[in-house]
Amino acid sequence: MPGPSLSRRRFLALAGAGSAAVALAGCGSAKKASPVPASGPEVQAAEEARRRSGAAVRDVAITAAALTADLGDGLQVPTWGYGATVPGSEIRIKAGDVVRARFTNRLPEATTIHWHGISLRNDMDGVPGMTQPVVDPGASFDYEFTAPDPGTYWFHPHVGLHLDRGLYSPLIIEDPAEPGAYDREYVVVLDDWTDGLGQSPEMHMEDLRAGRGPHAAHQAGGGPHSEFLNSGGGDVNYALYLLNGRRSETPVEFVARRGERIRFRIINAGADTPFRVALGGHQLTVTHTDGFPVEPVTVDTLMIAMAERYDVTVTVAGDGVFPLVAVAEAKADEAMAVVRSGAGDVPPSSVRPRELDGRILRRSDLVAAESVRLPAGRPDRTYKVSLGGGDAGYVWTLNGKPHGKNKPLEVRQGERVRLDFENTTTMFHPMHLHGHTFQVVNPGKPAGARKDTAIVRPDEPLSVEFIADNPGQWMIHCHNNYHQEGGMMLTLSYVTDRALTSQERASPLGLVCDWVARSVG
Ligand code: C2O
Ligand code: CU
Repeated sequence: MPGPSLSRRRFLALAGAGSAAVALAGCGSAKKASPVPASGPEVQAAEEARRRSGAAVRDVAITAAALTADLGDGLQVPTWGYGATVPGSEIRIKAGDVVRARFTNRLPEATTIHWHGISLRNDMDGVPGMTQPVVDPGASFDYEFTAPDPGTYWFHPHVGLHLDRGLYSPLIIEDPAEPGAYDREYVVVLDDWTDGLGQSPEMHMEDLRAGRGPHAAHQAGGGPHSEFLNSGGGDVNYALYLLNGRRSETPVEFVARRGERIRFRIINAGADTPFRVALGGHQLTVTHTDGFPVEPVTVDTLMIAMAERYDVTVTVAGDGVFPLVAVAEAKADEAMAVVRSGAGDVPPSSVRPRELDGRILRRSDLVAAESVRLPAGRPDRTYKVSLGGGDAGYVWTLNGKPHGKNKPLEVRQGERVRLDFENTTTMFHPMHLHGHTFQVVNPGKPAGARKDTAIVRPDEPLSVEFIADNPGQWMIHCHNNYHQEGGMMLTLSYVTDRALTSQERASPLGLVCDWVARSVG
């Protein structure tokens, strides 16, 4: 093994492989296809195809650092964030722009940034040891990528449980040809909060591994149950739930006028909590999910799992103060904001608008807008992804093994790939694919929603299809940060018949070869 700057052991630890007892294997043996390296020519070519001549370049500086967050009413908590606030400040660009982000890590631990949902070049995806080395404390990393698709996105770390601190920011990509008519737009970021108030995320993980907490109760057949999810709401008890960094006692106010149309871009940045969202006195017209448009559908309420996004439009029904509520599903607490179009008191933080019990958005309600549907076709390749684990030791698996031991799903560029998720656990899982936006298979409908994260309920399979048009090495994982850390990840590996150059094999990211070969072996 050559001497890359990232030691193998550290690589394994940071990538969450959780196992050192793995034999090293060679890369690109004579017969086997080689994994496409994260910065290989295939990746460069895909980026060139995305990049428009004269594309605007947006320079941003992002620093991860310890800070004191004010969660409202003088509640100050020490945490980690991107900049001076939680959420970190939003990045807003136009589709096709190039993001050039100088990232500086002032945390005491190594970290990375993952640009959730963006079909970006593989070597900017932020997965340590797989697409880039970690960014050490005090070090910087320059991210630069074309952001091809408009929509509501966000970014967060891809190391350990960093996501369950205050490290998250919206990334809004405006559509130069925006068809939607609305008067105002607000970004709504939901989060479940423990850091600085009670146990740290790492302490929660220790509890889970030791069989303590809501997860253990649920495994034993008890604990609060969500009918919608056919499972519990999560594995961790949080001190607070936040909307745009505020607890519900001191909600943010979204100002509007009667009759105006507001577009809310709702992002769930929580680590372990699905939220049921409703606006008192209003219905929600869902126009996009995970950035991509759907045929508009109007409902009373919707469930947003970790890392999902929903864009909804509402027409302000009158003069008043309306609670925008996000109830932590099966956790008996909520986050809140208010829409203010007139005088009046802010409702109590325990308010439960009746819309919460009205018509809820279902997977089968969502049909991709025609402009973003995949062309009709049959999959070239179908993989089963079986979700398992969660028993003693809190090990979660995909296809029977935790990450690092399970076999990467190999694909070739240009293929249409189908993933059949089946859930053998007692918990729901929001499954996320990096670098691609899949299309949910919606039997009887022309096309389900285009999404990058979708809920898989126990005993209810989910099938998705995507075009393998973004070469590299990509993660498929549960976006419950604790499940992910417990091993619920899998690699989607583009392979090629070309022989890798010796430089590709020797580079730190040539480690990808070991990663894949090791898991296949
Ligand atoms: Cu937002 Cu690997 O995820
Ligand atoms: Cu999960």
